[in-house]
Amino acid sequence: MDELMLCMNPLRRKAGVDPCCLPFGMDAALRTRTFHRGLAAYQPTPLASLPHLARELGLGSVLVKDESRRFGLKAFKALGGSYAMGLALAERLGIPPEEASPARVASPDARRRLGQLRFVTATDGNHGRGVAWAARELGHRAEVFMPKGSASARVCAIRALGAECTVTDAGYDDTVRLASRHAEACAGILLQDTAWPGYEEAPLRIMQGYLTLALECLEQMQAAGLGLPTHLFLQAGVGSFAGALLAFFTAIAGEAPVACTVEPHAASCHYLSFKEGDGLPHASAGPLDTIMAGLACAEPNPLSWQILKSHAAGALSLGEGVAANGMRLLAAPLSGDPAVVSGESGASAMGALEYLMTRESMAGNRALLGLGPASRVLVVSTEGDTNPAMYRDVVRYGRFACL
Ligand SMILES: Cc1ncc(COP(=O)(O)O)c(C=O)c1O
Repeated sequence: MDELMLCMNPLRRKAGVDPCCLPFGMDAALRTRTFHRGLAAYQPTPLASLPHLARELGLGSVLVKDESRRFGLKAFKALGGSYAMGLALAERLGIPPEEASPARVASPDARRRLGQLRFVTATDGNHGRGVAWAARELGHRAEVFMPKGSASARVCAIRALGAECTVTDAGYDDTVRLASRHAEACAGILLQDTAWPGYEEAPLRIMQGYLTLALECLEQMQAAGLGLPTHLFLQAGVGSFAGALLAFFTAIAGEAPVACTVEPHAASCHYLSFKEGDGLPHASAGPLDTIMAGLACAEPNPLSWQILKSHAAGALSLGEGVAANGMRLLAAPLSGDPAVVSGESGASAMGALEYLMTRESMAGNRALLGLGPASRVLVVSTEGDTNPAMYRDVVRYGRFACL
């Protein structure tokens, strides 16, 4: 298998905006950001520009949104969990969604009326950490289930926030089903970052929570005198993050940028779904064995799949070494470019971009994606060193080499 494979999306719309993007436009982004601004820990995360790397790769600009700083949790994911939790509480208090704020949903009166609620979720790590943190901030309990093989650093980070955390002996997708049954049995509130028939509201709100990140990028690019991104490389586990960002940039521009999902070979369900080309989401088979823990999901979220099916240009499937190279490149950038601490899932998009732009064998793929000196490329480093031992092994000791 090649280190990097591209499958173009045969069903991409030629023009216009699919209606499935409408819940992810500017109004939704402004509402979401207003909610997040009410959290004491809220600060926009930096958007790093890497001009020397852009020059070396033959691109106009390379911009990296650094989510290692988000809420002190080292990943973007709490944006979704906190927003969905806030709206779930608002609903129970009779507060209209557009008026929900952390102060209102967690006021002493709100807490007295609601008592202590139990929020349940399954996670590869970052989403569960976000839900645990939001529950602590808003005065409730969280119960988090993790798939077998989860790194102990990630389990400990969730427990340190006061949540109960159980590691199951199932993979990610079965752990999601287990959490859903558990929530039903214990009258808990399921906050899952993927949807299925009959369970759509919370995942939609979680996706909308990610719009704060997208809006920050837009404003930071405008402040730097740059136009909209021409290219997006977006990590996909279930696809909620990629779908939300692509829908936002498509809705505000009136047409889609050139966007690719980025997944590990071991869990490349979007790549597989584009390859099948029948418009349906397909699950990847086999053990989800990858260092890119946040992307180790076999089944696409049907809500984000609609967006990606309509507007993504293609899907990239990567070997482990490509992501590891992304971590090293961001940790030790070219002289004059800023460094970014980026974990295995976080750096996979940068690794994919570097591989695409530097290997002779990728010339055809570069042409298919129209990558060149006029390209303004946005990648999101979606996490920092959420597994510090792996970060050390990769960045300091060169584990998962890929020449
Ligand atoms: C660091 C990181 N990046 C990207 C993703 C992908 O997000 P999604 O599952 O919404 O596709 C995740 C998911 O947990 C993650 O933890």
